[in-house]
Amino acid sequence: MDGRTEFRFDPLAVQTPCCVVDEGLLKANLELLASVRERAGCKVLLALKCFSMFSTFPLLATALDGVCASSPHEARLGREEFAPHGGGEIHTFAAGYSEADIRSLCHTSDHLVFNSFAQLARFRPLVAELAGAQGRTIELGIRINPEHSEGAVPVYDPCAPGSRLGVRRAQFDAQHNQVGLDGVTGLHWHNLCEQDADCLERTIAAVEAGFADVLPRMRYVNFGGGHHITRPGYDVDLLVSLIIRFKERWGVEVYLEPGEAVALNAGFLVTTVLDVVQADLPVVIMDSAVPCHMPDVIEMPYRPHVVGSGEAGEKAWTCRIGGPSCLAGDVAGEYSFDAPLETGDRLVFTDMAIYSMVKTNTFNGIQLPGIALFTPQTGEVATLRRFGYQDFRNRLS
Ligand SMILES: Cc1ncc(COP(=O)(O)O)c(C=O)c1O
Repeated sequence: MDGRTEFRFDPLAVQTPCCVVDEGLLKANLELLASVRERAGCKVLLALKCFSMFSTFPLLATALDGVCASSPHEARLGREEFAPHGGGEIHTFAAGYSEADIRSLCHTSDHLVFNSFAQLARFRPLVAELAGAQGRTIELGIRINPEHSEGAVPVYDPCAPGSRLGVRRAQFDAQHNQVGLDGVTGLHWHNLCEQDADCLERTIAAVEAGFADVLPRMRYVNFGGGHHITRPGYDVDLLVSLIIRFKERWGVEVYLEPGEAVALNAGFLVTTVLDVVQADLPVVIMDSAVPCHMPDVIEMPYRPHVVGSGEAGEKAWTCRIGGPSCLAGDVAGEYSFDAPLETGDRLVFTDMAIYSMVKTNTFNGIQLPGIALFTPQTGEVATLRRFGYQDFRNRLS
């Protein structure tokens, strides 16, 4: 089944707006990731920034080695909800940490990756002290900037000019000479976004050209996220051979930390048509606000797919679909359908598990979408969470 265009649950079974994750589609992604992990002999972490639906963590933990977090809160979620289900390594990277962050992370993380030698020098003694007090080891890593862009959208390109992410080679020597690499066992980079293995191949070449003297001093190298492994057509064989060859050349362990690939095409946002108004063209108003429930549509930007729709003009009836908020740009895009949509119709947006639940907000006091899980074996859609007024109010004072 093509997860982009099909759903197998009854959209009338949920109160809208609601994000429905199909456990079967999630499992299919996990099987592919588990095969990469096994064939390449690498570790695969879930990037929580993309998908943090913790009720699925017991399932995810059967196939993944742990999570990567971007903050103390994500690291705590990983420690409390993922790690108990096995194999739960918690890796954390942030562009900057406060002392309070480090004190918290030392109770939740196994690996701390720094964005600069200054932060490494400042916090290395504190990490050693706090880890020692707990009788455990916290590995340290440094993020490098490979200075190799793969044509990603600039806002998602950590190697774009002026990027604050990762130490560039020119700065590496001077800073490293002062601070040293004592205790640093990992090298981390992240430069891809929804890309194929050929982009990784060129990135590896850039890193090997720039950091050949550093790589042999590492125990592990983390290739970051952005590997679109579960997208149909992704060159899995090339990925596997790149990892195997890298490990052989440098004698290191390799980590991947995909977000999208874990839950790609595994979730849907179900909404209801509230009204159809006539503007220059018919405009459908649904009960989901694009800036609140699918902010990436505006940020990236992109046009999400609606099941049963075509491009504008392709089918008999063309309309624009937008939400109930005040924002003029609260618009998902223009679509066509075989017949006009009517109040009460359900609209099902595809690929809404990734960078969706984690990014929702309550601008305009808009109702947050519920969270549901569809289990194909039983045909049941279980609503796991509904949100209400208190969730809106609790974020304010
Ligand atoms: C450091 C890091 N790791 C992993 C990821 C996950 O990327 P993706 O969801 O595209 O696989 C990101 C995304 O921004 C990231 O910044």
